[in-house]
Amino acid sequence: MKKIIIINGPNLNLLSIREKSIYGNVSFESWFENIPAKFPEINIEFFQSNNEGEIIDKLHETGFSYDGIILNAAAYTHTSLAIADAVKAIKTPVTEVHISNIFSREEIRHKSLTAPYCAGIISGFGLKSYELAIRSFL
Ligand code: DQA
Repeated sequence: MKKIIIINGPNLNLLSIREKSIYGNVSFESWFENIPAKFPEINIEFFQSNNEGEIIDKLHETGFSYDGIILNAAAYTHTSLAIADAVKAIKTPVTEVHISNIFSREEIRHKSLTAPYCAGIISGFGLKSYELAIRSFL
């Protein structure tokens, strides 16, 4: 069975509370509850951290044995050379995800440091972005 992990970065633990007009009113946990039933053919895990080093550690931990990584590095997408280096260093393909369309927002969000090392990027479809990313590994 394919093993996939979703890695969420800072502030994504506040989905449903934070800036609802941009990120919606559904928490990640309640969205994730329905995922195993929707994709019974894969084993899918979820990890969230507000800490850059913990995200890097999780990329190292999973990046040589899992079949796919779905990464929403949140604001670190635009700032973290260290996370970009980790994505470059690992073997598992990474699909980058954003809930919002980063290209329709402030200019600072248009640049992704991680995207060049990802298999692809899905941005702007709300939580459905994650579902499309799961499909990218099927
Ligand atoms: C985000 C977009 C980022 O610019 C922002 O900092 C986030 C969430 C998204 O999923 O739309 O925290 O990655």
